[in-house]
Amino acid sequence: MAGIYIHIPFCKKRCSYCDFYTEVAPQLVPALVDSIIKELQLRQDYLKTKTINTIYFGGGTPSILPAQEFQKIFDGINELYLIDENAEITFEANPDDLTPDFFNSISTLPFNRISIGIQSFDDEDLKRINRRHTSKEAIAAVKLAQQSGFTNISIDLIYGLPFQTIERWKKQLNTAISLNVQHISIYGLTYEEGTKLWKQREKKEVTPVDDETMNEMYSLMLKTLNENGFERYEISNFSLPGFRSRHNTSYWRQEAYIGIGPSAHSYDIESRQWNVSSITQYIKLLNSNKTYFEKEELSVTDKYNDYVMVSLRTADGINLEKVEAEFGVEFANYCLENIKTFIETKKVENSNRYLRITADGIKISNLILIEIMKV
Ligand SMILES: C[S@@+](CC[C@H](N)C(=O)[O-])C[C@H]1O[C@@H](n2cnc3c(N)ncnc32)[C@H](O)[C@@H]1O
Ligand code: SF4
Repeated sequence: MAGIYIHIPFCKKRCSYCDFYTEVAPQLVPALVDSIIKELQLRQDYLKTKTINTIYFGGGTPSILPAQEFQKIFDGINELYLIDENAEITFEANPDDLTPDFFNSISTLPFNRISIGIQSFDDEDLKRINRRHTSKEAIAAVKLAQQSGFTNISIDLIYGLPFQTIERWKKQLNTAISLNVQHISIYGLTYEEGTKLWKQREKKEVTPVDDETMNEMYSLMLKTLNENGFERYEISNFSLPGFRSRHNTSYWRQEAYIGIGPSAHSYDIESRQWNVSSITQYIKLLNSNKTYFEKEELSVTDKYNDYVMVSLRTADGINLEKVEAEFGVEFANYCLENIKTFIETKKVENSNRYLRITADGIKISNLILIEIMKV
């Protein structure tokens, strides 16, 4: 399995909670696309294969790209790689971009999966977090994607938004279920330093939802999604059978991937690298053939830490046989020794040398992680 991630770092306006690297700079789109194609060419040997199984356009807001710019990127990929005929090809979209004209314009592009950022079906929430759409528009966008032939649709929601109550969260979950989508990603709100929401909390304009309510919201979501046929295959990701995100699953299985575009990360098993987080710097450095990324070689301890960090979040869990085979017996012993008390208190289950976090353990997943990571 090999995947390409392409970061499209544009937004029409900033949401108050988000600290992803993006800019409001549509005038830079054509130059950025040229640089993305240049980076694809420069790094064509990064992956040890020429067959691509997943492509993911993330953001920012990929849905603001005009179809001809997407086409240029696909042409660039096709010149260098063979896209597998069953490849999963996803783009992230914001509901207000999803018009009939937009779907017509992309109908000849090879997308077969769409991930729509909805965040909330509550108009008051949406206004408070500075989203560009209403709940009605979000629902219409999902329906339009379905009418346009998409049969693999994911939506993103956030729980624990300021002023959210259990009752209102329940309503949101029911709306999500009623849309007949195949995949739902649900993140607990985090207050990221430097965001507008962070400042609002500092000024006491918003009060974070307390831990107990956050846990109750998570439990309610597990129950509701489970009753409606969704499996939790990662702490924040739920899918109907057969609809796990193959792209994200390959990250969690620690398969190599290449990340193209400003701030994108890449991983080739032995090292990790990340591109400069500035559109203008990225374009400038690529145009002058200068280094536009930083790189870190991974030690065995780094690889072990990466593995337990992502695997603990997945339903597959930590495979102790793999830890022993790839990092050595002392790492497997260290992991088991440090997770023992969580097994005894049923926060983690040990089944045939697979360590899996239980529904109860999810609430303290960070604590468990701190115990099993090596410094
Ligand atoms: C970077 S966004 C890109 C998607 C798209 N631009 C959008 O706005 O929906 C990816 C997802 O991360 C989640 N996210 C971003 N910041 C978050 C935060 N502070 N707390 C929880 N979830 C967050 C949101 O659910 C969002 O859809
Ligand atoms: S959540 Fe999406 S639209 Fe909002 S600022 Fe972040 S990337 Fe942009």
